[in-house]
Amino acid sequence: MATKRTLAEVPGTTDRRIDALLTLLAENATIVVSGAKIAKEIGVTRQQVWRWIEKLRALGVRVKGHAHTGYHIERVPDILAPQLLSHRLYGTPFARRIYHFFKIDSTNTVAMHLGEAGAPHGTVVLAEEQTAGRGRAGRSWTSEKSAGIYCSVLLRPAIPPARAPVLTLVAGLAARDAAAEDMDALPDIRWPNDLLAGGKKFGGILTEMHAEPDRVHYAVIGMGINVNQPRMPEALASIGTSLRIETGKSHSRLELLIRLLRQFDRYYNQFLAEGAAPILRRFAQVSSYFKGKRVRITTAAESFTGTTAGLDSSGVLRVVRDDGRDTELVLSGDVAEAL
Ligand code: BTN
Repeated sequence: MATKRTLAEVPGTTDRRIDALLTLLAENATIVVSGAKIAKEIGVTRQQVWRWIEKLRALGVRVKGHAHTGYHIERVPDILAPQLLSHRLYGTPFARRIYHFFKIDSTNTVAMHLGEAGAPHGTVVLAEEQTAGRGRAGRSWTSEKSAGIYCSVLLRPAIPPARAPVLTLVAGLAARDAAAEDMDALPDIRWPNDLLAGGKKFGGILTEMHAEPDRVHYAVIGMGINVNQPRMPEALASIGTSLRIETGKSHSRLELLIRLLRQFDRYYNQFLAEGAAPILRRFAQVSSYFKGKRVRITTAAESFTGTTAGLDSSGVLRVVRDDGRDTELVLSGDVAEAL
């Protein structure tokens, strides 16, 4: 008889016991823990502990020692381990179900499948590396191993799809506020949700959903942030950047992700309780693109220049066109600064 695959058994997810091993080592960072004790606590053999330690070393986790003397970690590893995260996300819907992959095609693709399979609101999908990361407008998202944050959250908001663009703004604001704490100069948001530092992009958001005309079944908000890339690939160097390039130092992806998901929870609850108004007000405060920005808009149908004139109540961008035609309501498309 075929066994029924449960939601918890998504192929390729990181073994819960590796997660437990990482958490144990991280929580005892300064002490030497014997291989036997680790094996007992996580319920595997000492040989298995040794094999996993080797795997973690290959991923750059600096573990000292060996099976006889015991192990200890030299520095808390910057791996987005679900156990570590869920303790720190306690009280938010993101603490309960976190799927982690060392390597996956796209966290958004996994999260959309989980949405279809009935996974609950707040499910989080994380990857250390994406082999087919997806960006807006069919572009790809370069997702170098353990350098960035590649995170998708599954939401089940009781709203019609017409209100969903505000969810994208919620994510953009959360990512912007979380990143701002690691930066010397405040980041900007290019509508709807490109995160910019010094005019270059270091983060983006891809929202996908499954909906009927009057009801969103589920939405997946995929967030990509360039954190510790020492340099950008040549093809992206003139338009892309990372927090490390901007600040000259490395940042904890774990801490950044915790801040991001906590801020997300705060803005999301505000949106549900008070509607779009406070979200739009916050966007107006932190985005230079909100009003009075000279822009070039490129949609599937045309390309034109104009000046931004705020957002409407559903988060759509208003642009006063240079050619004198009616003010445009931009639902989607590329926005670039026009000089
Ligand atoms: C953009 O084009 O600006 C959106 C980029 C979104 C990238 C993130 S990384 C995590 C999630 N998984 C994906 O495949 N894409 C999003």
